Amino acid sequence: MADGSRRVHGSRPRSTTASFATSVGTRSKSPADSVWTPPVFRWAGSKRRLIPILAGLSPEQFRRYYEPFAGSACLFFAIRPHRAVIGDVNRDLMQAYEMLLKHPRSLARAAQALGASGEDYYAIRRIDPQTLDPIDKAARFVYLNRHCFNGLYRTDRLGRFNVPRGSNMGSLPSEGHFYRCHVALRSAELRTLDYAETIADAGEGDFVYMDPPYKTTRRNHGEYGYGVFSVLDLARFANDAQELRARGASVMISYAEDTRLLRMLPGWTRKTVLVWRGMAGSPARRTVAREMILISNAPVQVRRKAIL
Ligand SMILES: C[S@@+](CC[C@H](N)C(=O)[O-])C[C@H]1O[C@@H](n2cnc3c(N)ncnc32)[C@H](O)[C@@H]1O
Repeated sequence: MADGSRRVHGSRPRSTTASFATSVGTRSKSPADSVWTPPVFRWAGSKRRLIPILAGLSPEQFRRYYEPFAGSACLFFAIRPHRAVIGDVNRDLMQAYEMLLKHPRSLARAAQALGASGEDYYAIRRIDPQTLDPIDKAARFVYLNRHCFNGLYRTDRLGRFNVPRGSNMGSLPSEGHFYRCHVALRSAELRTLDYAETIADAGEGDFVYMDPPYKTTRRNHGEYGYGVFSVLDLARFANDAQELRARGASVMISYAEDTRLLRMLPGWTRKTVLVWRGMAGSPARRTVAREMILISNAPVQVRRKAIL
């Protein structure tokens, strides 16, 4: 590392990430835009704590912004692009985004009307979402997301959400917060698709940020919910990323350090950062891991202190 200072990005101590967005991305000119809008959703694997670095490595100018593995889409809400495509294969998540875009206030009120006790949580979790109208269905999703263990999304074989209630869960965002996210989403087209279909029309001048789930050795049959990527998916992903680059898009990928992916993406710029990782819930059981950020084109700005 150039300056000898090595920093771990995570919650010890909690870093402040509120003001960096003023210098990156093509964003709307409204005054509210100078402040990062935190996402409505908590998301396992969220890159929230890497936002200062990811935003710093993002191009200043681009045509459209694509985020095909959206999750909580925290980079999107940080850089607030003028034109965006947000996609994820998780239907429930994307349906909730759609309601956030169309009916932010009704969604906020419906979610806030739900009780916060443990009993309430499990009663709400038991409700079959297919019996609910779209706003209540999305409100249930937001509610479970904000109160479950670590923002996990996991379903059983029948597609039923089965994450237990968290002991240290976040509260629901305010109605104003829902509304700010709604305003940011107005620039976005939402796609409930496999990432490859979401990026199919990305090309010259576009900026694509991809944050796929870490690979596992098993295929995703649904019992582990969404977010399971196999070794085969990783090879397909690397191939698609290369094609995207060849079409003239600027591409940025964040992923756990992985020599196989590196070999499949020769010529990309790599930055490595240290992050706290672990789903164990207990801070004491979290470990430091190396995360890499791969960039297809030379970045405009590199925050050297944050980079190994
Ligand atoms: C690591 S998370 C993204 C986290 C996000 N960057 C954030 O900060 O919240 C990966 C996301 O990819 C989605 N996903 C998994 N497989 C996918 C696929 N084949 N196509 C599109 N999205 C997929 C998961 O549903 C999950 O939301």
